[in-house]
Amino acid sequence: MKVNLDINNRIYETYIDADEALLGVLRKLGYKSVKKGCDTGACGVCSVLIDGKPTLSCQFLAARAEGHKITTVEGLGKDADEIVDAIVSEGADQCGYCGPSLVLTTYAMKKELKNPTIEKIKHYLAGNLCRCSGFEGQLRGIKRYMGVK
Ligand code: FES
Ligand code: FES
Repeated sequence: MKVNLDINNRIYETYIDADEALLGVLRKLGYKSVKKGCDTGACGVCSVLIDGKPTLSCQFLAARAEGHKITTVEGLGKDADEIVDAIVSEGADQCGYCGPSLVLTTYAMKKELKNPTIEKIKHYLAGNLCRCSGFEGQLRGIKRYMGVK
């Protein structure tokens, strides 16, 4: 089936299978920042933003994405740089596989949480797993980015 997908404010006319997940479609279109991990909704590395909300692209049908705004980390520009700088400055980044999804989720969290606390941040990020680190370094950087002591 033919769909029009709005990815990072660019419209793509593309053909998909009716049961195809958004994850594979985004990667086929060149958005390799969107990673495949568990493919079962458990790890979070495939997260993208749909209408600004973190969404697991492995669990989201591409056909459902038509008419919505899809954002990958390539679409964040300077905001992504700012978040990456905060995380890297804590020496947190290792293989980087979880990085794009973590950056996107942090970006959405900053917009959504009006009075962030460490508990709220941990709760928001609970679905984003990192297989390399204990997550403490990333958390320190993200706390700083969120303005939480
Ligand atoms: S690949 Fe989608 S949640 Fe793990
Ligand atoms: S840095 Fe390797 S998965 Fe997070």
